[in-house]
Amino acid sequence: MKVDVLLGLQWGDEGKGKIVDVLTPDYDVIARFQGGPNAGHTIEFEGKKFILHTIPSGIFYPGKVNVIGNGVIVDPYILSLEIEKVRKQGFTVFDNLRISRKAHLILPSHRLLDAIYESAKGKDKIGSTLKGIGPTYTDKMGRNGLRIGDLHYADFYEKYEATKAGHLRIAASYDFDIAAVKIDGMSFAEYEQQWKDAIAVIKKIEHIDSEYFLNTMLQEGKKILAEGAQGSLLDIDFGSYPFVTSSNTTIAGVCSGLGIAPSNIGKVFGIVKAYCTRVGSGPFPTELSDDDGERMRRQGNEFGSTTGRPRRCGWLDIPALRYAVMLNGVTDIILTKADVLNNFETIKICTHYRKDDTSFDYMPFDITDIQPELIEVNGWQSDLNNRTWEQMPAAFTDYVRTIEQMSGVKISIISTGVDREQIVRKIENTLQ
Ligand code: IMP
Repeated sequence: MKVDVLLGLQWGDEGKGKIVDVLTPDYDVIARFQGGPNAGHTIEFEGKKFILHTIPSGIFYPGKVNVIGNGVIVDPYILSLEIEKVRKQGFTVFDNLRISRKAHLILPSHRLLDAIYESAKGKDKIGSTLKGIGPTYTDKMGRNGLRIGDLHYADFYEKYEATKAGHLRIAASYDFDIAAVKIDGMSFAEYEQQWKDAIAVIKKIEHIDSEYFLNTMLQEGKKILAEGAQGSLLDIDFGSYPFVTSSNTTIAGVCSGLGIAPSNIGKVFGIVKAYCTRVGSGPFPTELSDDDGERMRRQGNEFGSTTGRPRRCGWLDIPALRYAVMLNGVTDIILTKADVLNNFETIKICTHYRKDDTSFDYMPFDITDIQPELIEVNGWQSDLNNRTWEQMPAAFTDYVRTIEQMSGVKISIISTGVDREQIVRKIENTLQ
């Protein structure tokens, strides 16, 4: 058996949570491999809506094992709230959830530092979710981090205090009023108390050596789906640096974040929205600041599921998509939010970029100040619900086939709404 991977090919918010939920019946284990509570994976079914930040999106199926891998960073307070919400709706969590001993902890002082660094950047701010992502991964790489496994040692709070003291020394060197800072609406001291209280909940989850667990599962013939967070264009190495997150959101993150060998990777499902969005700062070549962008935001409810911020909207960007396909070795594209474009008379697609009178179709070192070269296609102007692929309007199938031709990858699943049931499987492969 191989590990199949599902990851975002744009700037995050492609609808990964819903698709993991749809694919979960085909798998035994769902494993998150990177990121932290900056993610917000939305799942809707039977009139219920959940936003998961740390828990893998397979949690709603009894009997499926959900693993938080070593590459994920965990805020005990946020995870404990998430667990409570899911349990309140009658789902089993502790029996179906495992967490890697090697996953790093987001400390309250990491969140404090995130707020300080972001505020110090002024107009160059990244637009971070302020969940402590950058400072926690910095400590991981700097070999100063604390991990889930450390919670079981008697000197945990000694180490905690030493790490926190280091952070507070850094904080003191900034012109920043720590007393005034609010973390999720709380003072630092209040938040820290909640965080410490949440440790008891985190200890109720089974802590495992997830690399052994997953590789044993593979040997036993079990099917594993690796669930990515954020998107390829936010990757720390390949994204629009420095306006990126602090982990490898691309395929490499699966190997380092779960302990899976490259030769054990099977299908790579790349999730692509029918248009593009970006939340936070940073270059966005196809961004729209007109009525079309506003329509996408309204129809697609494009507001951050973690922060509530309005998302920036724009046309589908093929050079960026091809770049993400190349980096990840995508075998199948899953197209989401196609229904958001239902009422558009015409739709544009960016096929090339232009800078200084030169046209090109690759991702340059710097994507600021590049102009998109757009083609225009007909919109389908009809509802896509309750139709099979064969029953779809011609303008829609043309749009899908154009994306396949331009990206070089077949589209095998199309999502036409927020609910679990709004999904179309496409067998036809126009690329063969
Ligand atoms: P951070 O990872 O919270 O530090 O945020 C860094 C950048 O990535 C910011 O522009 C965020 O808006 C963006 N970002 C982080 N997580 C997500 C996500 O799950 N979806 C979309 N954008 C994200």
